[in-house]
Amino acid sequence: MSHRITLEGGDGFDVSAGEDTLLRGALRAGVGFPYDCNVGGCGSCRFDLVAGEMETLWEEAPGLSERDRRRGKRLACQSRPRSDCTIKMRTGEEYRPPVPPRRMKAVLACRRPVTSSMSEFVLRTAEPAHFIAGQYAIFRPPGAEGARAYSMSNLPNGEGEWRFVIRRVPGGRGSNAMFDAVEIGDTLELDGPYGHAHFRAEAPRDVVCIAGGSGIGPVVSVARAAVEAMPGRRLFVFEGARTREDLCFPALMGAAQGGVAAYTPVLSAEADDSGWDGVRGFVHEEVERAVGHRAAECEFYFAGPPPMTEALQKLLIVNWTVPLARIHFDRFF
Ligand SMILES: Cc1cc2nc3c(=O)[nH]c(=O)nc-3n(C[C@H](O)[C@H](O)[C@H](O)COP(=O)(O)OP(=O)(O)OC[C@H]3O[C@@H](n4cnc5c(N)ncnc54)[C@H](O)[C@@H]3O)c2cc1C
Ligand code: FES
Repeated sequence: MSHRITLEGGDGFDVSAGEDTLLRGALRAGVGFPYDCNVGGCGSCRFDLVAGEMETLWEEAPGLSERDRRRGKRLACQSRPRSDCTIKMRTGEEYRPPVPPRRMKAVLACRRPVTSSMSEFVLRTAEPAHFIAGQYAIFRPPGAEGARAYSMSNLPNGEGEWRFVIRRVPGGRGSNAMFDAVEIGDTLELDGPYGHAHFRAEAPRDVVCIAGGSGIGPVVSVARAAVEAMPGRRLFVFEGARTREDLCFPALMGAAQGGVAAYTPVLSAEADDSGWDGVRGFVHEEVERAVGHRAAECEFYFAGPPPMTEALQKLLIVNWTVPLARIHFDRFF
């Protein structure tokens, strides 16, 4: 059974009853519904309910401000239709999924540590792993409320292999469940792919990739795609981490590291007496110093915690006036 969602002044689509959020139902139907995080953090999927019944999954989701709530706004990623509904929002061609997202059964085949707090998870599906480098999938970690997004760190493939680099967040319910409550051989639901920060193979420019912490997963994926897709174009990678032990880009890239024109690790909390003679500080500060003169010739991809992505947005958009179409990023809420 499904519910019919009508867009005020436009077309409609069906959402399977009791299963999908409004957002995921819309994207599955090929509708260009605006969104970013899919998990209640960013507010990009706000809409107005004009008629019908809609359940709210996470009342306190930070993607809505108090003002939004007073004005009756809702988040499509935290809303589940309970009847046919009419909604008001503006769709956009740029939000239409390039690969239709699907729910799949995925078996955890392997988990191996890459740093003291991050592990690589390898999952397998019976279906091919269809996505574009830089996209993410959604999981429901057992025992945690709500959904969590994790970005693929490998390349699309016909073998149904999906790799993720997941950080164990101190006190975090979802990430700890992925480490402690999921055993090798267990089956999870993998829903995806989602996200707009994917590699643009057609863009004829040098590529700058910037990772903060667990943002390394999608950056490895995009860097691998860039190495495969672009002889003649250069790839510059910046990895921001707290200490030397937290760096993992070279290990995750393996032989593909040979295709990187320059890799710059930047450490924010390495001890003064550790012998580290590389760059110290925040990764966006090093990007500002090292890339400034060639920003106009580059395509930018980045992922990591909101303070890092906000600093980079300011640098690229306000200071360097890089066109928005050349900036692709995910904030890890
Ligand atoms: C697009 C995207 C890609 C990401 N990719 C990666 C990645 O590759 N690797 C990685 O390590 N991390 C990634 N993250 C972060 C990841 O999704 C989790 O936020 C992180 O693992 C912390 O989750 P936690 O459950 O441990 O922490 P918690 O603090 O328990 O939860 C954090 C997040 O869970 C959601 N949440 C919490 N409570 C509820 C609730 N009651 N109902 C619904 N939702 C709730 C919210 O989104 C919240 O921000 C990504 C995030 C986004 C948005
Ligand atoms: S997509 Fe709904 S809050 Fe981010």
